[in-house]
Amino acid sequence: MLTNPHTAALIAEMDKASPEEHWLEKLRDGTHVLIRPLSTDDHARLLRFFQRLSPLSLRFRFLGAVTHVDERIIDSLLSVPGDISRGYLALIHHDGELQVIGVSRYRQAMDRDDCCECAVAVADPWLRKGLGHLLLGHLIDAARRNGFSVMRSTDLSTDYPIHGLYKQSGFTSVYQGRDFDRIIHELAL
Ligand SMILES: CC(C)(COP(=O)(O)OP(=O)(O)OC[C@H]1O[C@@H](n2cnc3c(N)ncnc32)[C@H](O)[C@@H]1OP(=O)(O)O)[C@@H](O)C(=O)NCCC(=O)NCCS
Repeated sequence: MLTNPHTAALIAEMDKASPEEHWLEKLRDGTHVLIRPLSTDDHARLLRFFQRLSPLSLRFRFLGAVTHVDERIIDSLLSVPGDISRGYLALIHHDGELQVIGVSRYRQAMDRDDCCECAVAVADPWLRKGLGHLLLGHLIDAARRNGFSVMRSTDLSTDYPIHGLYKQSGFTSVYQGRDFDRIIHELAL
């Protein structure tokens, strides 16, 4: 019998995802999270997640181009066809509901068919618990399975957390010409 109602709620949610594409993971602080593919049904949860991100995290995630996330941004994140994009959510059960605490996503690059552009974001209260690493790991595995040969991300040079995460995962980093405000991270898959 399951004694923990939070874990039981995650397992119930897990049954809705395809069997190869969900993982019940444990964060560094012992919290159980469900990682599963993004779906169009996640629109409201995803909106809440992005609207709760701190201004700095939002700046890093959208390279300073977005200060408020509205429905249109979520629509555009969810409307990219599955053959050129993939995304994963991390969910916890909190206050009687499933909450998104992290998202990772890639989509095919505009300039190269064999390259995908990726992004990761973790809710501020859940930083430094290993979630970014887990979300990125599943994304890398998916990109490899789907035939991409390079994963790439353009980030603000001041985004030290993502730089550390990518470095830990084997990405290289270079400035783009003389633009020192941004840094390009790349991983050969
Ligand atoms: C980048 C981000 C996803 C990392 O998520 P996280 O869950 O805190 O990362 P993890 O706990 O898995 O950390 C993995 C590694 O990343 C590095 N790292 C994470 N946060 C760091 C920080 N604040 N400073 C330096 N390195 C950091 C470390 O190497 C860390 O390994 P360690 O904890 O064993 O030292 C998170 O900071 C975030 O959401 N930032 C805002 C959005 C963003 O910038 N996205 C990137 C642009 S798309």
